Amino acid sequence: MPETRPGRFPSIRLRRMRKDDFSRRLMRENRLTVDDLIYPLFVTEGSRLREPVTSMPGVARLSLDLLLDEATAAFELGIPAVALFPVIDADKKDLEASEAWNPEGLAQRAVRILKARLPELGVITDVALDPFTSHGQDGLIDEDGYVVNDKTVETLVKQALSHAAAGADVVAPSDMMDGRIGAIRQALEAEGFVNTRILAYSAKYASSFYGPFRDAVGSAANLGGGNKYSYQMDPANGDEALREVELDLQEGADMVMVKPGMPYLDIVRRVKDRFGVPTYAYQVSGEYSMLKAAAQNGWLDERAVVLESLLAFKRAGADGILTYFAKDVATWLK
Ligand code: PBG
Repeated sequence: MPETRPGRFPSIRLRRMRKDDFSRRLMRENRLTVDDLIYPLFVTEGSRLREPVTSMPGVARLSLDLLLDEATAAFELGIPAVALFPVIDADKKDLEASEAWNPEGLAQRAVRILKARLPELGVITDVALDPFTSHGQDGLIDEDGYVVNDKTVETLVKQALSHAAAGADVVAPSDMMDGRIGAIRQALEAEGFVNTRILAYSAKYASSFYGPFRDAVGSAANLGGGNKYSYQMDPANGDEALREVELDLQEGADMVMVKPGMPYLDIVRRVKDRFGVPTYAYQVSGEYSMLKAAAQNGWLDERAVVLESLLAFKRAGADGILTYFAKDVATWLK
């Protein structure tokens, strides 16, 4: 029995191609693969230490030995790169963030161990001062508590050089100071680190979705009631993100990033369309926690929503995604 057709005869029926798996596969426009994943990892001092992050079930701060195990597992699953976030003791934090460029610092040692043991795994480091400042801001502050730009950039340059010297493949400034990409690029060139890539957190918003991350690295307590509105972007803005990306590219960024991810996919699309450069997005801690909490309550199917959320990043134009789900996803995709 043919279906009854009200009005015009539908010669075009979009449901035809959706009818069977074979034709759905043939017209699928985007795919998520293990090549799209970057795995963020929290590193801490100690040995055989795995400190769970309460607000991020399934995520833990790892001492260097366990970091190596976790990175090895990620590498064996085919994940291209990890992004390292050090968590240091409160007594090493100061106003100058001096631990940030210590050649024997936690991040620097983590890079050296990973590059020695897993040379083919890409290692990305975070360039920003918040894990190292006693006040939890990403930069150095003046008497009024204002984060000063140019002095901060000088410190970021020292930090980035120390990461490159330790063997980092990619340095990723997440601080949002003006001019830091150019300054870091020039310094890397001058010191002979011509192949150190820069992944610029270009459009980084002053987002409340970073809450669990700040718990994880212990910067929330230092930050107190403070905020990052004077350097991270206003969530209301889109055009401004394009200006940030344009400047970072002019200054020598190899890759750009939008952060957070899912609430900002319009920005990912605009960046990709306008510049056509390698574009990444960060599914940040708060996004992870939301999905995880709903899954733990049995309200969402974890695997299905995580895969769908990451596919949405691809559809928006992202070339890759930083996600705390990276290892699970790599396993599911196998
Ligand atoms: C700090 C930094 C933050 C994140 C990555 N690097 C937090 C912040 O800006 O306060 C957030 C990542 C996440 O929430 O998963 N430079």
